[in-house]
Amino acid sequence: MQTIFITGASSGIGKATAELFSTKGWRVIATMRNLKKGEELAKLPNVVLMPLDVTDSVQIRETCQKALNEYDVDVLFNNAGYGLMAAFERIPEDEIRKLFDTDVIGTMLVTQQFIPHFKKRKSGVIMTTTSLAAIIALPRDGAYGAAKRAQQGMVESIYYELKPFNVLVKAMIPGGTKTNFQTPINDLTGYEQPTANQRKYLLDGNAEFPDPTEAANIIFEAATDGKDQLNYPTDSVCQKLYDEYHSMNVEDFKNYLYNKFFEAKR
Ligand SMILES: NC(=O)c1ccc[n+]([C@@H]2O[C@H](COP(=O)([O-])OP(=O)(O)OC[C@H]3O[C@@H](n4cnc5c(N)ncnc54)[C@H](OP(=O)(O)O)[C@@H]3O)[C@@H](O)[C@H]2O)c1
Repeated sequence: MQTIFITGASSGIGKATAELFSTKGWRVIATMRNLKKGEELAKLPNVVLMPLDVTDSVQIRETCQKALNEYDVDVLFNNAGYGLMAAFERIPEDEIRKLFDTDVIGTMLVTQQFIPHFKKRKSGVIMTTTSLAAIIALPRDGAYGAAKRAQQGMVESIYYELKPFNVLVKAMIPGGTKTNFQTPINDLTGYEQPTANQRKYLLDGNAEFPDPTEAANIIFEAATDGKDQLNYPTDSVCQKLYDEYHSMNVEDFKNYLYNKFFEAKR
């Protein structure tokens, strides 16, 4: 049975992905830091819950090795993460360190556990939820965007290392998806108008961001299409800005975004 190992499967994109893969007949190793949040998922066919807080390096080793000993994992899906939004000088040091511990170091350590397995097996897919913020910079994203670019950097580097072993490495890129996405700091001070303009622009006339099932469908496609493709925008919000970004040079894009967010009136 094909098997996927997911981090951060308790809610949002991770949970929707776990549900979809179970529906498609896959075994799902749904990991989360609070197993109580997985009670619904555990009722689905072939879903196995395992504890994993990605800031706990002992638990990373134990859970990843237990999963690898018990199952032949086909796909690793690094998904656990959260954000911080504030003018850069207002983000406290301890919050920056905590963010990097989860989004960057947690992702890296989990990935290191799986690479020998995939290299030996000479097949498999490593997928990581990065962000539109990993591709383009947005205001108030100085810490979060940096963390997501670090993840994207890891993804792009190990793509080359693992291709000779027939292991695919892919970035799943949300732009705006309606989840429980946590931002322990969300400080608009001094940037109220650009933030409102940005949100309006990202929503693109819609009342809400798309549901995580949209992301889950694209994640399933990425896991199964066998394509040598690095980046997968996972929602319509990301696709729009991703395409705009790649349609102009970097200086033109920076001017374009500045005018949209900072010069436009509400
Ligand atoms: N939603 C968006 O618009 C958006 C945009 C760009 C990127 N993303 C990325 O998408 C990924 C999924 O987020 P989401 O939007 O689905 O938000 P979500 O509903 O809050 O899901 C985030 C998941 O990460 C888990 N998590 C957080 N810290 C963890 C830790 N230390 N160890 C293990 N798990 C941890 C959460 O667990 P708990 O339930 O225990 O908190 C939850 O399962 C994240 O990497 C996020 O950065 C989302």
